[in-house]
Amino acid sequence: MANTKQQTYLTAMGVDVYVSRDLSAAPLRAATTSADTALITVTPVPAKVPMSAEPANLDWDGLIQQVQQCTLCDLHATRTQTVFGVGRRNASLMFIGEAPGAEEDRQGEPFVGPAGLLLNEMLRAINIQRADVYIANILKCRPPGNRDPKLEEAAQCVAYLQRQIALIQPKLLVALGRIAAQRLLQTDIALARLRLKQHQSPEFNVPLIVTYHPAYLLRTPQDKRKAWEDMLYINKSLQEILN
Ligand code: URA
Repeated sequence: MANTKQQTYLTAMGVDVYVSRDLSAAPLRAATTSADTALITVTPVPAKVPMSAEPANLDWDGLIQQVQQCTLCDLHATRTQTVFGVGRRNASLMFIGEAPGAEEDRQGEPFVGPAGLLLNEMLRAINIQRADVYIANILKCRPPGNRDPKLEEAAQCVAYLQRQIALIQPKLLVALGRIAAQRLLQTDIALARLRLKQHQSPEFNVPLIVTYHPAYLLRTPQDKRKAWEDMLYINKSLQEILN
Protein backbone atom coordinates (compact mmCIF):
# COMPACT_ATOMS: atom_id res chain seq x y z
CA MET A 1 0.00 0.00 0.00
CA ALA A 2 1.19 3.52 -0.75
CA ASN A 3 2.75 5.31 2.20
CA THR A 4 0.24 8.18 2.22
CA LYS A 5 -2.78 5.87 2.10
CA GLN A 6 -1.32 3.81 4.93
CA GLN A 7 -0.83 6.98 6.94
CA THR A 8 -4.44 8.01 6.34
CA TYR A 9 -5.69 4.71 7.76
CA LEU A 10 -3.37 4.81 10.73
CA THR A 11 -4.27 8.39 11.54
CA ALA A 12 -7.97 7.51 11.42
CA MET A 13 -7.29 4.78 13.99
CA GLY A 14 -5.50 7.24 16.21
CA VAL A 15 -2.05 5.86 15.48
CA ASP A 16 0.63 8.58 15.46
CA VAL A 17 2.78 8.10 12.39
CA TYR A 18 6.46 9.01 12.56
CA VAL A 19 8.20 8.71 9.22
CA SER A 20 11.95 8.20 9.45
CA ARG A 21 14.38 10.08 7.21
CA ASP A 22 14.59 7.13 4.76
CA LEU A 23 10.72 7.11 4.59
CA SER A 24 10.62 3.31 4.78
CA ALA A 25 10.46 2.89 8.54
CA ALA A 26 7.28 1.72 10.25
CA PRO A 27 5.34 3.98 12.65
CA LEU A 28 6.83 3.72 16.13
CA ARG A 29 4.12 4.63 18.57
CA ALA A 30 0.36 4.82 18.79
CA ALA A 31 -1.99 7.10 20.69
CA THR A 32 -5.74 7.74 20.71
CA THR A 33 -7.38 10.84 19.33
CA SER A 34 -10.82 12.34 19.74
CA ALA A 35 -13.79 10.25 18.81
CA ASP A 36 -16.25 9.81 16.06
CA THR A 37 -19.65 10.67 17.43
CA ALA A 38 -21.85 9.30 14.65
CA LEU A 39 -25.58 9.33 15.34
CA ILE A 40 -26.81 5.93 16.44
CA THR A 41 -30.42 4.84 16.94
CA VAL A 42 -31.05 3.58 20.47
CA THR A 43 -33.50 0.72 20.63
CA PRO A 44 -37.06 1.80 21.58
CA VAL A 45 -39.00 0.18 24.43
CA PRO A 46 -41.51 -2.35 23.02
CA ALA A 47 -44.85 -3.67 24.37
CA LYS A 48 -44.74 -6.36 27.10
CA VAL A 49 -44.16 -10.01 26.20
CA PRO A 50 -44.25 -13.03 28.53
CA MET A 51 -40.86 -13.70 30.13
CA SER A 52 -41.26 -17.42 29.42
CA ALA A 53 -41.00 -17.14 25.60
CA GLU A 54 -38.03 -18.85 23.93
CA PRO A 55 -35.68 -16.18 22.51
CA ALA A 56 -35.52 -18.19 19.28
CA ASN A 57 -39.26 -17.53 18.74
CA LEU A 58 -39.20 -13.79 19.42
CA ASP A 59 -39.29 -10.88 17.01
CA TRP A 60 -37.19 -7.75 17.62
CA ASP A 61 -39.64 -6.12 20.03
CA GLY A 62 -40.21 -9.33 21.96
CA LEU A 63 -36.50 -10.00 22.23
CA ILE A 64 -35.76 -6.47 23.44
CA GLN A 65 -38.49 -6.78 26.04
CA GLN A 66 -37.26 -10.17 27.20
CA VAL A 67 -33.69 -8.91 27.60
CA GLN A 68 -34.92 -5.89 29.57
CA GLN A 69 -36.80 -8.17 31.97
CA CYS A 70 -34.11 -10.86 32.20
CA THR A 71 -33.21 -12.20 35.63
CA LEU A 72 -31.53 -15.44 34.49
CA CYS A 73 -28.23 -14.63 36.20
CA ASP A 74 -27.16 -12.53 39.18
CA LEU A 75 -26.03 -9.62 37.01
CA HIS A 76 -29.61 -8.34 36.89
CA ALA A 77 -29.26 -7.33 40.55
CA THR A 78 -26.34 -4.98 39.95
CA ARG A 79 -27.11 -3.55 36.50
CA THR A 80 -28.47 -0.05 35.96
CA GLN A 81 -30.09 -1.29 32.77
CA THR A 82 -29.58 -3.94 30.13
CA VAL A 83 -27.48 -3.18 27.05
CA PHE A 84 -29.18 -4.88 24.13
CA GLY A 85 -27.29 -3.80 21.04
CA VAL A 86 -27.25 -0.98 18.53
CA GLY A 87 -27.02 -0.38 14.82
CA ARG A 88 -28.52 -1.41 11.54
CA ARG A 89 -30.91 -4.32 11.87
CA ASN A 90 -29.94 -5.71 8.48
CA ALA A 91 -26.20 -4.99 8.79
CA SER A 92 -23.79 -7.13 6.77
CA LEU A 93 -21.14 -6.65 9.42
CA MET A 94 -21.72 -7.35 13.11
CA PHE A 95 -19.25 -6.71 15.94
CA ILE A 96 -19.50 -8.68 19.17
CA GLY A 97 -17.78 -7.55 22.34
CA GLU A 98 -17.60 -9.00 25.79
CA ALA A 99 -19.95 -7.18 28.15
CA PRO A 100 -21.07 -3.63 28.94
CA GLY A 101 -18.76 -1.43 30.99
CA ALA A 102 -19.69 1.41 33.33
CA GLU A 103 -20.60 3.90 30.62
CA GLU A 104 -22.59 1.33 28.64
CA ASP A 105 -24.49 0.36 31.81
CA ARG A 106 -25.30 4.05 32.31
CA GLN A 107 -26.34 4.79 28.72
CA GLY A 108 -27.86 1.43 27.72
CA GLU A 109 -25.81 1.23 24.54
CA PRO A 110 -22.75 -0.94 23.75
CA PHE A 111 -19.32 0.58 23.18
CA VAL A 112 -20.02 4.18 24.16
CA GLY A 113 -17.17 4.53 26.66
CA PRO A 114 -13.48 5.03 25.82
CA ALA A 115 -13.26 1.61 24.09
CA GLY A 116 -16.28 2.51 21.98
CA LEU A 117 -14.69 5.74 20.85
CA LEU A 118 -11.68 3.78 19.63
CA LEU A 119 -13.99 1.23 17.95
CA ASN A 120 -15.56 4.14 16.04
CA GLU A 121 -12.09 5.18 14.87
CA MET A 122 -11.25 1.61 13.85
CA LEU A 123 -14.41 1.54 11.73
CA ARG A 124 -13.63 4.92 10.23
CA ALA A 125 -10.19 3.60 9.29
CA ILE A 126 -11.93 1.28 6.82
CA ASN A 127 -14.53 3.85 5.77
CA ILE A 128 -17.39 2.25 7.68
CA GLN A 129 -19.80 4.27 9.83
CA ARG A 130 -20.81 2.95 13.22
CA ALA A 131 -24.48 3.34 12.19
CA ASP A 132 -23.97 0.91 9.28
CA VAL A 133 -22.92 -2.08 11.41
CA TYR A 134 -24.58 -3.85 14.31
CA ILE A 135 -22.80 -3.92 17.67
CA ALA A 136 -23.67 -6.25 20.54
CA ASN A 137 -22.02 -8.08 23.40
CA ILE A 138 -21.89 -11.65 24.69
CA LEU A 139 -23.43 -10.38 27.95
CA LYS A 140 -26.29 -7.89 28.07
CA CYS A 141 -25.54 -6.77 31.65
CA ARG A 142 -22.43 -5.25 33.19
CA PRO A 143 -20.34 -7.55 35.39
CA PRO A 144 -19.55 -5.61 38.59
CA GLY A 145 -16.15 -3.93 38.49
CA ASN A 146 -15.80 -4.97 34.84
CA ARG A 147 -14.67 -8.47 35.82
CA ASP A 148 -14.57 -11.13 33.08
CA PRO A 149 -17.94 -12.75 32.33
CA LYS A 150 -18.44 -16.08 34.10
CA LEU A 151 -19.02 -19.13 31.91
CA GLU A 152 -22.51 -19.60 33.32
CA GLU A 153 -23.42 -15.95 32.67
CA ALA A 154 -22.38 -16.32 29.04
CA ALA A 155 -24.27 -19.60 28.79
CA GLN A 156 -27.47 -17.96 30.11
CA CYS A 157 -27.14 -14.95 27.84
CA VAL A 158 -26.05 -16.52 24.56
CA ALA A 159 -29.59 -17.32 23.35
CA TYR A 160 -30.23 -13.58 23.10
CA LEU A 161 -27.16 -13.10 20.93
CA GLN A 162 -28.12 -16.12 18.83
CA ARG A 163 -31.52 -14.59 18.19
CA GLN A 164 -29.99 -11.20 17.37
CA ILE A 165 -27.75 -12.88 14.79
CA ALA A 166 -30.70 -14.84 13.37
CA LEU A 167 -32.74 -11.65 12.99
CA ILE A 168 -29.91 -9.56 11.52
CA GLN A 169 -28.47 -12.29 9.27
CA PRO A 170 -25.06 -10.61 9.02
CA LYS A 171 -22.63 -11.79 6.36
CA LEU A 172 -19.61 -11.46 8.63
CA LEU A 173 -19.12 -11.49 12.40
CA VAL A 174 -16.19 -9.83 14.16
CA ALA A 175 -15.28 -10.92 17.66
CA LEU A 176 -13.69 -8.10 19.64
CA GLY A 177 -11.13 -9.50 22.04
CA ARG A 178 -10.21 -12.81 23.60
CA ILE A 179 -13.34 -13.36 25.67
CA ALA A 180 -15.75 -12.90 22.75
CA ALA A 181 -13.50 -14.84 20.36
CA GLN A 182 -13.00 -17.81 22.65
CA ARG A 183 -16.68 -17.95 23.59
CA LEU A 184 -17.93 -17.69 20.01
CA LEU A 185 -15.42 -20.20 18.68
CA GLN A 186 -15.61 -22.41 21.78
CA THR A 187 -11.86 -22.60 21.98
CA ASP A 188 -9.04 -21.63 24.34
CA ILE A 189 -6.59 -20.79 21.56
CA ALA A 190 -4.82 -17.46 22.16
CA LEU A 191 -6.19 -14.43 20.30
CA ALA A 192 -2.91 -13.85 18.45
CA ARG A 193 -3.35 -17.23 16.74
CA LEU A 194 -6.99 -16.59 15.82
CA ARG A 195 -6.40 -13.31 13.94
CA LEU A 196 -6.33 -12.86 10.15
CA LYS A 197 -8.39 -15.96 9.42
CA GLN A 198 -12.01 -16.61 8.64
CA HIS A 199 -13.48 -19.02 11.18
CA GLN A 200 -16.83 -20.74 11.25
CA SER A 201 -18.49 -20.39 14.65
CA PRO A 202 -19.93 -23.73 15.84
CA GLU A 203 -23.17 -21.95 16.86
CA PHE A 204 -23.67 -19.47 14.04
CA ASN A 205 -23.44 -20.35 10.39
CA VAL A 206 -21.63 -17.11 9.58
CA PRO A 207 -17.90 -16.50 8.94
CA LEU A 208 -16.18 -14.92 11.92
CA ILE A 209 -12.98 -12.88 12.18
CA VAL A 210 -11.19 -12.09 15.42
CA THR A 211 -9.46 -8.86 16.35
CA TYR A 212 -8.22 -7.10 19.46
CA HIS A 213 -10.62 -5.56 21.93
CA PRO A 214 -10.41 -1.76 21.74
CA ALA A 215 -10.01 -1.58 25.53
CA TYR A 216 -6.89 -3.77 25.19
CA LEU A 217 -5.62 -1.46 22.44
CA LEU A 218 -6.05 1.54 24.75
CA ARG A 219 -3.81 -0.24 27.27
CA THR A 220 -1.43 -1.59 24.61
CA PRO A 221 -1.22 1.03 21.87
CA GLN A 222 1.77 -0.68 20.24
CA ASP A 223 -0.68 -3.34 18.99
CA LYS A 224 -2.81 -0.80 17.14
CA ARG A 225 -0.85 -1.51 13.99
CA LYS A 226 -1.89 -5.16 14.18
CA ALA A 227 -5.50 -4.09 14.75
CA TRP A 228 -5.25 -1.93 11.67
CA GLU A 229 -4.08 -5.00 9.68
CA ASP A 230 -7.10 -6.84 11.09
CA MET A 231 -9.45 -4.07 10.00
CA LEU A 232 -8.06 -4.19 6.46
CA TYR A 233 -8.51 -7.96 6.48
CA ILE A 234 -12.09 -7.57 7.76
CA ASN A 235 -12.87 -5.05 5.02
CA LYS A 236 -11.32 -7.21 2.29
CA SER A 237 -13.18 -10.30 3.52
CA LEU A 238 -16.47 -8.41 3.64
CA GLN A 239 -16.02 -7.10 0.09
CA GLU A 240 -15.26 -10.65 -1.13
CA ILE A 241 -18.32 -12.04 0.64
CA LEU A 242 -20.59 -9.30 -0.73
CA ASN A 243 -19.32 -9.53 -4.33
N1 URA B 1 -16.39 -3.53 26.27
C1 URA B 1 -17.19 -4.46 25.69
O1 URA B 1 -16.79 -5.59 25.48
N2 URA B 1 -18.42 -4.09 25.36
C2 URA B 1 -18.90 -2.87 25.55
O2 URA B 1 -20.06 -2.61 25.20
C3 URA B 1 -18.05 -1.92 26.15
C4 URA B 1 -16.79 -2.27 26.51
